[in-house]
Amino acid sequence: MGLTIGLVGATGAVGRKMMEILQERKIPVDTLRAFASQRSAGEKLEFNGKEITVELLTEEVMKDTFDYLLFSAGGGVSEKYAPIAAAAGNIVVDNSSQWRMTEDIPLVVPEVNSHVLKGYRGIIANPNCSTIQMIVALAPLHKKYGLNRIVVSTYQAVSGSGHEAIMELEGQIKDAAHPHTVYPKRIAANCIPHIDVFNENGFTKEELKMVYETQKILEDDSIQVNATTVRIPVFYGHSESLYLEFDQEPNVQEVKAILEEAEGVIVMDNPEVNEYPTPLETANTDDTYVGRIRKDLFNTKALSMWVVADNLRKGAATNAVQIIEAMEAMI
Ligand code: A2P
Repeated sequence: MGLTIGLVGATGAVGRKMMEILQERKIPVDTLRAFASQRSAGEKLEFNGKEITVELLTEEVMKDTFDYLLFSAGGGVSEKYAPIAAAAGNIVVDNSSQWRMTEDIPLVVPEVNSHVLKGYRGIIANPNCSTIQMIVALAPLHKKYGLNRIVVSTYQAVSGSGHEAIMELEGQIKDAAHPHTVYPKRIAANCIPHIDVFNENGFTKEELKMVYETQKILEDDSIQVNATTVRIPVFYGHSESLYLEFDQEPNVQEVKAILEEAEGVIVMDNPEVNEYPTPLETANTDDTYVGRIRKDLFNTKALSMWVVADNLRKGAATNAVQIIEAMEAMI
């Protein structure tokens, strides 16, 4: 028998991608129910060749029985509705940041820590997009050499801020006078070192997500993370510059070999022929790409590298669907 899946936020950038990926990965879905706000209730969507009608999200519908509910409608919606669905016995995979740091709520990158899902029911949190791709690339190196410090700068695509942000960049590319409403400044031909709200310690909430989510997923609070997250005028695909300090001295050839073997990672590292990943080349795929792997000039136990992944896919929808696959494989 196939699965009954509910998609909360089905009309958004990530919600639509989730529908696409459920079909692509041939998840055996019998019934897909799509939920959104009053704005798009009644709209028609297509799933596996069939038309489905978007339903209004209410407390009542969350008490229905689902095998899985995928949430991608923002933190406020997850805060209110995910506990109602979970209390009714449903498994919720939540793409918002609402529940990620709550104790007892698993925060999962399936290649790295799916063991925490064993026997679990309730809310499962999908990590932050920038954290997911960083963890996929770093977990195998942490295992081998022991990571103790990460300094990361991100170059994040506008699709991470949702559909409105994609329209804002498109509008500003065509017309320099197009207003900014999603971002605090014009994003076209610019870069903005400000993602999510500022904390009193000077870091943004997005930067702190990268710190604490990394420690939770790798189950190691001693890893020191320093992040600067930056929005750039790219539509799809986040890039990251990483500086990494390890307990053991890493060897570049061995690092490449480890990453080539790692699940979900593709090494693209031959700079002489311009081989290194960029968001344009890697968009629309599910892997995490690593290039520019090089030893630090001064610290023998440190490396730098460049990591790129499609933020809507591995950074959000694919990871959520892989959580369903991991749960199903454990039944
Ligand atoms: P709607 O189409 O009704 O606005 P994005 O991140 O691309 O902006 O998408 C956000 C998604 O979350 C959309 O599907 C949006 O639905 C949905 N959403 C936002 N607020 C609510 C709400 N209060 N109740 C249900 N769905 C919501």
